[in-house]
Amino acid sequence: MNYKKSLFAILALVLGSAHAQQRIPEVEQLLQKMTIDEKIGQLNLLTPGGGVATGEVVSENVGTKIKAGQVGGLFGVAGPDRVRKAQELAVKESRLGIPLLIGSDVIHGYKTTYPIPLGLSSSWDMDLVEQAAQMAAREATADGINWNFSPMVDIARDPRWGRIAEGAGEDPYLGSKIAEAMVKGYQGEDLAASHTMLACVKHFALYGAAEAGRDYGSVDMGKIKMFNQYLPPYQAAIDAGAASVMSSFNDVDGVPATGNKWLLTDLLRDQWGFDGFVVSDYTSLNEMIPHGLGDLQAVSALALKAGLDMDMVGEGFLSTLKKSLEEGKVTETDITNACRRVLEAKYISGLFNDPYKYLDSKRPEKDILTDGNRALSRKLATRSFVLLKNHNNILPLAKEGKIALVGPLADSRENMLGTWAPTGDFNLAVTILEGFNNVASGATIQYAKGANISDDADFAKNVNSLGERILIDERSPETMLQEAVDLAKTSDVVVAVVGEATEMSGESSSRTDISIPESQKKLIKALVATGKPVALVLMSGRPLTIPEEFDMPVSILQVWHPGVEAGNAIADVVFGDYNPSGKLTATWPVNVGQIPVYHSAKVTGRPAPESGEFQKFRSNYLDVPNAPLLPFGYGLSYTTFEYSNLKLNKKEINQGETISATVTVTNTGNYDGEEVVQLYLRDVVRSITPPKRQLKGFQKVMLKKGESKEVTITLSADDLKFYNAQLEFASEPGDFEVFMGTDSDAELSDTFTLK
Ligand code: NOJ
Repeated sequence: MNYKKSLFAILALVLGSAHAQQRIPEVEQLLQKMTIDEKIGQLNLLTPGGGVATGEVVSENVGTKIKAGQVGGLFGVAGPDRVRKAQELAVKESRLGIPLLIGSDVIHGYKTTYPIPLGLSSSWDMDLVEQAAQMAAREATADGINWNFSPMVDIARDPRWGRIAEGAGEDPYLGSKIAEAMVKGYQGEDLAASHTMLACVKHFALYGAAEAGRDYGSVDMGKIKMFNQYLPPYQAAIDAGAASVMSSFNDVDGVPATGNKWLLTDLLRDQWGFDGFVVSDYTSLNEMIPHGLGDLQAVSALALKAGLDMDMVGEGFLSTLKKSLEEGKVTETDITNACRRVLEAKYISGLFNDPYKYLDSKRPEKDILTDGNRALSRKLATRSFVLLKNHNNILPLAKEGKIALVGPLADSRENMLGTWAPTGDFNLAVTILEGFNNVASGATIQYAKGANISDDADFAKNVNSLGERILIDERSPETMLQEAVDLAKTSDVVVAVVGEATEMSGESSSRTDISIPESQKKLIKALVATGKPVALVLMSGRPLTIPEEFDMPVSILQVWHPGVEAGNAIADVVFGDYNPSGKLTATWPVNVGQIPVYHSAKVTGRPAPESGEFQKFRSNYLDVPNAPLLPFGYGLSYTTFEYSNLKLNKKEINQGETISATVTVTNTGNYDGEEVVQLYLRDVVRSITPPKRQLKGFQKVMLKKGESKEVTITLSADDLKFYNAQLEFASEPGDFEVFMGTDSDAELSDTFTLK
């Protein structure tokens, strides 16, 4: 699958060394011809603008620099014709004609956007995740892109952090599976094919653990937690063959990731065997100056020495490396090694064979936004929704009668795609009002906005930095509210679409208050007060704090930000054409004070009572129980599932052996439906304090009404291992407890002993 990895394996065998360096002859010959300036030029990644600039700098004189051999890649340029112009400058007008890498942030779909990654992860369906990434790759490559700044695999346990939207949530096991599926989807079997692109795993490392959930913040974490909880998804992506890695903005053990040799070389290359290239994040090299690591020349030399190969936008490498070479601060070998890695990526993409291979002007029409792609996006969205509550089984709705569709997100095209969808176009998105009319044409659907997303103009201004997402109505809040209440009173049922605008989560969109904004809370209360059945369709890019709404007599369907088919997909689920099966991949706290709250936390020496009641001199709070509002893995269905008869195939195993757990799942309700059967493990006694329980397996199964199935999940020898105090990955003899069930609070359990 991975050309370089397999070649490496063969060479290692022949030479008998695990560290045999494989070389690609064409790249070596090219390196021979290159001047030092040309080598440094390959380490320079620029953006000519036109995409989304995520920092204060946008590159200048890009064309001149390409011709001078001072650019290795571009991002923020798309479309076969535009990319061809840039590629021709490099191929025809620079001395050596080295083609450019063309990068892009294709985070959740290219033009056919699909749910934000946190939503997609809630499907727990790895085949679908891979298909989604494949579709994104086919569309992006049709538009000239050959390198994707995805997957983002940062573990996130603080929903204040806006970028929790971009990842797969809190769990390293699930996160690793998703990382693997996405890399496979983007890169396929053959990176030289014209519909596959290089993946870039980001943000290496620990970016999701920023203090106080504030973006770009400092991270401070011990190695045990790092290795056991935060690093596995990055490693899984590398093992799956990811061709590149992006260093993160934060520091790791006191050294910014972009200049951290332990991270970029000792761990990534020497320990994990990564043989691709590392790119910085947007000016993260230059940002080592305010981090306190020295001036631009010093931090550039530090980063190169640490193992950074490509500098995104900041031009620190371009402007200082030659001087550092002359002054003996870096060596020519350091520069050549970095250049080699960038060239090798171009080689394995097939760009040396044909620099224009992604530039077929007929492809966009054939491959982008096809009916098939839109149908897949709609399916992905339905699979990402999580039914949080179904009061009186209000859902699914019948496709008849009078439905009041209210709320500031019910007819809001600009908020359907979600954060980080710069390649998408929200004008193509299906609103919920449109979706309801498409799917339930037999019903009378009437709409009222009811409230602004937020009435706070200062907050709205911050959220709207990249374009208007919160539109404050000219009408007074009271007038809008009254209109919605009047409509509700004359309807049979109310669907209120509430929550976050797209840019309330995502990059640089941290919040300290993650509840539903006050304007919408008032609307929900007023609607409930009408006594009509109310279903909330909740949109957000993060777990929200909703204890009050959860206590109300309402149904709640969590839909994240669903992408271009939003309205159709929501209607599919609300009207029962698809029975929801999504499960939360990040815990929903009761309030911000509980954060971080996640299922694999440690027990502590003074655990809180199981009852949730406060007990003095125990690890608990005076004001709320420790339990979150909704646990990891949680999600309901229109039907019900019962679990029984958990059994293990062995009571004792030896080191290296596997063990299987089987449970019976029965669909006891009135609908066919899918269930994500989850297995959690607790290592009862070991040399370092164990988590309460950890996800170690899952299986999504379809059960017809009344049907029972035995579901077996096998634990591998590695599933029992952890990084110990010496950072060795090993298991220890002793007892283990296995739990199986519908979420991380699963109660059925059994034990076995590892000898
Ligand atoms: C900054 C973001 O942190 C990163 O995820 C993204 O890939 C780059 N900007 C490029 O747009």
